Amino acid sequence: MIRDVLKMGDPRLLQRSLPVERFGTPELRELLADLRDTLSHLNGAGLAAPQIGVGLRVVIFGVRANPRYPQAEEVPDTVLINPVIEPLAAEMIEDWEGCLSVPGMRGWVPRHAHVRYTGYDEQGRRMERAVQGFHARVVQHECDHLDGILYPMRLRDLSRFGYNEALFPGEALPLEE
Ligand code: NI
Repeated sequence: MIRDVLKMGDPRLLQRSLPVERFGTPELRELLADLRDTLSHLNGAGLAAPQIGVGLRVVIFGVRANPRYPQAEEVPDTVLINPVIEPLAAEMIEDWEGCLSVPGMRGWVPRHAHVRYTGYDEQGRRMERAVQGFHARVVQHECDHLDGILYPMRLRDLSRFGYNEALFPGEALPLEE
């Protein structure tokens, strides 16, 4: 079911979410179906459970090749539950980011360039990946939602935060997360 996405200012987006304790349950299946339906309806790159008002440590993300965004990096469709992210290097990279909870805007956000993440899929199978580029950015963005952090809270330069049509007139933009 397509759910409403909470917008910045809603206090539920600022809460720390709780770990999933049981895998393979009908409730978890339904949550993941709702996240997938909502993300594909909004054509986003990723979505975290608290963005639809569910305070559990569950995120989904994925980006397929799209001719409208030839420079966009592909990211495999991923369900990530109870994630832990560990930076693999001190290097930080800044790039434009958007969020489905801050619609129509972009900010210039510093993220770790290389990270390892671990967590579980919907069946409770453990996963571990070392990633960089947009994959590293999107997983850091989504997992921040689980700790009540929205990307504007990470901006260092508020002069690089604004409305899409003002920042990038006439351009097709990368997907929101
Ligand atoms: Ni977001």
